[in-house]
Amino acid sequence: MSAAAVYYDPFDPVVMADPYPTYQALRKAAPVYWSDAGRCWVLSRHSDVTSALHDPSTFSSASGVFPTVGAPSMADLFLPMLIMTDPPRHTAMRRIVSRAFTPRRIATLEAGIQELIEGLLDDASSHETWDAVEALTAPLPAIVIADLLGVPREDRDSFRRWSTQLIQSQPQSPRIGGALEAAAALYDYFASFLAERRIRPRDDLMSALVEAEVEGQRLSEDELLGFCFLLLVAGHETTTNLLSNSLVALAGEPDARHAMADDPQLLPRAVEELLRYDSPVQGLSRTLTRSTTMHGQDLEPGDVVLLLFGSANRDEQVFPAADRLDIHRSAEQHLALGHGVHFCLGASLARLEARSALQALLSRHRDWEVDEESAVRLQSGPIRGFATLPFRPIAGT
Ligand code: HEM
Repeated sequence: MSAAAVYYDPFDPVVMADPYPTYQALRKAAPVYWSDAGRCWVLSRHSDVTSALHDPSTFSSASGVFPTVGAPSMADLFLPMLIMTDPPRHTAMRRIVSRAFTPRRIATLEAGIQELIEGLLDDASSHETWDAVEALTAPLPAIVIADLLGVPREDRDSFRRWSTQLIQSQPQSPRIGGALEAAAALYDYFASFLAERRIRPRDDLMSALVEAEVEGQRLSEDELLGFCFLLLVAGHETTTNLLSNSLVALAGEPDARHAMADDPQLLPRAVEELLRYDSPVQGLSRTLTRSTTMHGQDLEPGDVVLLLFGSANRDEQVFPAADRLDIHRSAEQHLALGHGVHFCLGASLARLEARSALQALLSRHRDWEVDEESAVRLQSGPIRGFATLPFRPIAGT
């Protein structure tokens, strides 16, 4: 296939329904591809995406990382966000928030997460078929982040409603107005919440963030607010979609389901493979700070470059038989959680939620079906997942 024969539009819902054949063509014939529709260059090979992630001084995050065409995005919140910061400020900010986001703090959430999942599954089990997104995959990360931040139980419903509205702020979405209203409500909520934590600190992430300092430096008020928003956006829909995509992938893999149900020790490795196989974040962008040449193409300062994690994760050069789900393979080199300085801060939390949800589900149902015909896919370029996903456990298993 020649480069001219490849066409890729990152926002085309038809492509997004199954982007993998297009990615394969890109990797093969056009590893540095100019997309008119996305107004960006597209990198699709594992080696190129990894190199870009390792070079933040050339591939900058400061102008935003969420590919959008003419639609409001997180950048429009005008808050400084870790994910949209380059070193050296990124290094300092990340050091501060990491202090409040330790593996120890995440590990303390495990029992609560398991209890929460059992409760959600109990509620769902009165129905023969349920919407997996509404019943399990969306509420789980929303409630976990609310708890992590220290949102009181009585505010949980409002918080969940706002955060759902906020993350639906996708390009071309008619719900964008609701998302902006929700952003305003959350801004006020977080601001008063932070003020309260300053006066009366508690044992929660928000208090830890207010107090965390490195070399005498604390986060500014705007940085704190930006971080709260980032946790919502980065930690909610991503985890929802990892779980939804996993339910779909495993629906067609009875051997994998049964193996995991019989031996939960397989789960950590399986979660990495599920992250690789159908990645919730298919790509994020960077902006060039200087000219560079890749595969003979000259790229100029200011050019936007889309890094296709979803394609890198199917690169046969790194993952033999990449289009096959194999829960026994070691998929550690996947880029689903990023790589380098911006590597996902919530990785251990995402893994914990996914492992716990799959284990709880498999201990109740070894077999299930999903109705992909009636499922509704998200129409959001870089985010791959479902708005609704009819799910039916198969009785007696
Ligand atoms: C960064 C994916 C869950 C918080 C990232 C990046 C990716 C990613 C690809 C790199 C961004 C870049 O290079 O520009 C995912 C996926 C998740 C997940 C697929 C679920 C399966 C979470 C959770 C949280 C979280 C649960 C927190 C509650 C963050 C933060 C960053 C980040 C704060 C920015 C780190 C930085 O800029 O230094 N995530 N994420 N993520 N993620 Fe996650």
